[in-house]
Formats: sequence, C-alpha cells, structure tokens
Amino acid sequence: MVNASEKIQVKELSVTYDSVPALRSVSFSVLEHEILGIIGPANSGKTTFLRTLNRLSDLNPKLKSSGEVLIDEKDIYKKWNVFQLRKKVGMVFALPSPLPISIFENLAYGPRRDGVRNKTRLSETVERSLKAAFLWDEVKDRLNESAMKLSGGQQQRLCIARTLALEPEVILFDEPCSGLDPISTAMIEDAMRELKKRYTLILVTNNTKQAARVSDRVAFFLMGELVEIDQAQKIFTVPKDKRTEGYVSGRYG
Ligand SMILES: Nc1ncnc2c1ncn2[C@@H]1O[C@H](COP(=O)(O)OP(=O)(O)OP(=O)(O)O)[C@@H](O)[C@H]1O
Ligand SMILES: [Mg+2]
Repeated sequence: MVNASEKIQVKELSVTYDSVPALRSVSFSVLEHEILGIIGPANSGKTTFLRTLNRLSDLNPKLKSSGEVLIDEKDIYKKWNVFQLRKKVGMVFALPSPLPISIFENLAYGPRRDGVRNKTRLSETVERSLKAAFLWDEVKDRLNESAMKLSGGQQQRLCIARTLALEPEVILFDEPCSGLDPISTAMIEDAMRELKKRYTLILVTNNTKQAARVSDRVAFFLMGELVEIDQAQKIFTVPKDKRTEGYVSGRYG
C-alpha cells in the first residue's frame, strides 16, 4: 500500500556519466507539501538528481540510469511524456535567467506557448505568479520594462514566478540563492515557506544554514550516495551517521 502523501518515490536510482557513478542506488520518497532540502559537498550528485526528476538529461549520450522514479505513482520514463512531466515539475536554477523581454512577457511566454490566448487570463496568471514569488509590489507599475533591468534577487524571484505561471506541482531549486545577498535570500526563503502550502519543493543548497532554516526534512548526499534522510532538526542536531555529523558541523565539504 502506497502512502498517499508520497509525491515522488525514488527506487534504487543509479546514474553514471561515461560509466563513472554520479548517483549510487538512491532510494527515498519526497512527501507532498514538504520542503526537502538536499545537502552535500560538491560532486555528490545533487544536481544530477534534480535533472533526472524532470528528465533534463535525456539527450546526454554519456548518461545512463537505472532504477525507478515515480511521480504520483507513475514512472517518469514509462508513464509520463516529457512535456507533461516538465509541466508538472518546474525547475529554478542557480543563476537567474530571465529572457531579454519585458517582465510581463517573461511570465506570459510559457502559458501562451501552452495555448492560453485570453488577455485577462494571462494578466491574472502574471499577477498571481508575481504575488506568489513575493515580487508583485516591486514590479506592478513596470510590467512592460525589460526584465534585464531587475536586480539579481528580483530576477531570481521572476524566474520563480515564471515557473509558477506554468502551474507545476513540484518545484526543484538548484542553489537558488547562491549569488544573492542576505535580504534577497530571505525573500526567497519566505516565498518557499508560502509555496509549500500548494506545491512540493526540493531545495538543493550548499548552505547548510539555509537547509536548516527552510527544510522540513533534509537528505545528505555524499559522492553519489544518500547517506541519511530525516527531519531537518534531527539531521542538524542528532544525525545518525558520522559522515552527516562531519558535514553539518563543517568538518569537510
Ligand atoms: N553533464 C555531465 N557530464 C559528465 N559528468 C557529469 C555531468 N554532470 C555531472 N557530472 C559528474 O557527476 C558527478 C556529480 O555531479 P553533480 O553536478 O550532480 O554534483 P553536485 O552535487 O550538484 O555538485 P555541486 O555542489 O558542485 O553543484 C560529478 O563527478 C560530475 O563531474
Ligand atoms: Mg550542483
């Protein structure tokens, strides 16, 4: 019997690039409406894991994977087509990458591509997404200005809004605050806490303090292995594995 609150199930997932392992038989679940933090030193497979979830590596001939990933109990390779999957699973990258067009058009682009033509509906989507990404108040009077004029922190919130405009169910964040100042970082963390009420979030971060601040549960990856997954508070205070303890106490990484 499958636990109904398991949004994503990862079963013995292994990934290699040119036969070199990047993920080693990783198994765990991601629960609906949680923020799962993924921490670990460089090259531990964190980005590889996120990219697998929405099949971003499908075209990489060096990559081979085995095992299973189920979203809503359906295999991402066998039961979802890649377009459905990418609509369901949005991704926000480390470097904000707005399109060099207006703020409004950045947000309307995806829904329009999905066939939404109605202007009122597009405007509603733009407003709703910007509000959810905590950016609306700062840009509501300049929606026709170029997105490139926004600050780095605003651009990253725009990218979050752009993901939300496509109405995903899962949002993957790969070190979304790595280039941002503490105030912009705090805004994105506030947005995430709100977003988890409606979405399932996975946050890859090199910043263990950030993982502690926003995650419900945390997974510690090391050299492609899932060392431990548990409530955030446990990972940071009473981890079960010595390697987790070493990492969270800053002894290596
Ligand atoms: N496109 C690729 N082609 C070949 N090897 C890759 C590719 N992407 C990642 N790798 C290798 O897979 C391993 C895991 O990399 P990955 O980017 O998943 O780690 P990470 O935990 O996200 O690291 P970081 O914290 O530096 O972002 C590394 O050894 C890396 O060199
Ligand atoms: Mg990475």
